[in-house]
Amino acid sequence: MTLTAAIVLAAGEGTRMRSSKPKVLHEFAGKTFLNRVMDAVGALDPETLAVVVRYQAQRVAEAARSYDDAVLIVEQDEIPGTGRAVQCAMEQLGEQDPLSGTVLITASDMPLLDTSTLRQLLDYHRDSGDGATVLTTVLDDPTGYGRIIRDADGNVLKIVEQKDGNSSELAVREVNTSVYVFDAAVLEQAIANLNADNAQGEFYLTDALTVARQVSKVGAFAAPDPLSVEGVNDRVQLASLSKAHNLRVCRQWMLDGVTIVDPQTTWIEDEVEIESDAVILPGCFLQGHTTIAHDAVVGPYTTLIDATVESGAHVERSRVQESRIGREANIGPWTYLRPGNEIGTGSKAGAFVEMKKAHIGDGTKVPHLSYVGDADLGENTNIGGGTITANYDGVHKNHTHIGSDVHIGAGNLFVAPVNVGDGVTSGAGSVIRHDVPDDAMVYSENTQHVVDNWKPAWER
Ligand code: UD1
Ligand code: MG
Repeated sequence: MTLTAAIVLAAGEGTRMRSSKPKVLHEFAGKTFLNRVMDAVGALDPETLAVVVRYQAQRVAEAARSYDDAVLIVEQDEIPGTGRAVQCAMEQLGEQDPLSGTVLITASDMPLLDTSTLRQLLDYHRDSGDGATVLTTVLDDPTGYGRIIRDADGNVLKIVEQKDGNSSELAVREVNTSVYVFDAAVLEQAIANLNADNAQGEFYLTDALTVARQVSKVGAFAAPDPLSVEGVNDRVQLASLSKAHNLRVCRQWMLDGVTIVDPQTTWIEDEVEIESDAVILPGCFLQGHTTIAHDAVVGPYTTLIDATVESGAHVERSRVQESRIGREANIGPWTYLRPGNEIGTGSKAGAFVEMKKAHIGDGTKVPHLSYVGDADLGENTNIGGGTITANYDGVHKNHTHIGSDVHIGAGNLFVAPVNVGDGVTSGAGSVIRHDVPDDAMVYSENTQHVVDNWKPAWER
């Protein structure tokens, strides 16, 4: 079914979030509400995708455009309400020619709205021949939502908002999800004469259905999955929907063969990929385009952001960002890998080690208390504890190269740029300012002075 237009309502402030940021720019599992809804709607390929903005209009418009530069931005005027938002959108969409065909309308505070639910709604609308179809769901606790009021034969009569309902209306558990499909001509008529004669003094889009009934049939389609249409109005709802979604994600990974020891404390974003027989220990955050291969062990208490963890690697109590951890490598505990690291097969970055843009060859170990930045280390090299690459001269970031089969003593300082050849051994406490050839031994003097029978001042 071709879709003439999709209208995403994103003009509201979201007062109940009590935030300086518009509600639609809050994040859910790593992506803004707006992105998530635009994703779901965009996949239907509407001829025009319109986003209605008003509260912090610039900011929301920019976010929408940066996501899809073909988006039509509609500015809602100062008249409030979802109905007004659609009036403004329809005016702009019909500027040249009156709109025909099918129009999808959706709120943008529904982070789990998905394309498959929308497709089913569109199919239902087409097959029923109704002029308007509202997507509904049945909730145990419908508080806050508009209620779907039907007549004795089950036909949709109207939608009554929480603040306007009487007790028998509020007892209804079937609610409006704020997603609708209209025939464009029916929608034009249905929104023509909205008014603000209600408890919130707003133009309600929900009132359009009452008018639509006079010119065509109005139907309702129940979303197969209530979570997919749950709205978020405050941070309590945000937390509970995030939790419910995350438990589902964890459950699916477990069914696919991943061991998750504690799904309650394991948070996995949607684009993460995990092979079967990986083990995720408690307290992990797996984010962005992270991939974890089979037999890798992650955690406990580890954050991976756009990280690649290869098979058999172990990352414990660490934070890893935009880095590749090779097969059988060991990271942690308490290791901080900033972006750009390549850790080779069987290599190690141990306790209190920080790395950035470090290429660590196969079998090379950086076990304790070191900083390795802008450096490449060859294979089977060992770096003594407390070693630092001094990569920053205050202006430039400089490179350190250390070869293969190198033994670096404890507490070395590499003043970059500097090159150390293969097979080198360095003494403890060396400050390496100049290049070292292959197979050399290098140490730098630091004279030891001894003062006999010395007492501190207060003892003298
Ligand atoms: C709305 C529906 C309610 C439904 C619920 C589902 C109305 C009157 N009520 O209530 O029946 O059960 O969603 O979650 O439609 N918006 C604008 N311009 C405005 C006001 C809002 O674009 O002037 C946008 C918001 O950004 C939001 C959406 O419309 O994306 C819904 O607004 P919100 O204030 O959350 O409405 P609800 O009270 O949740
Ligand atoms: Mg809402």
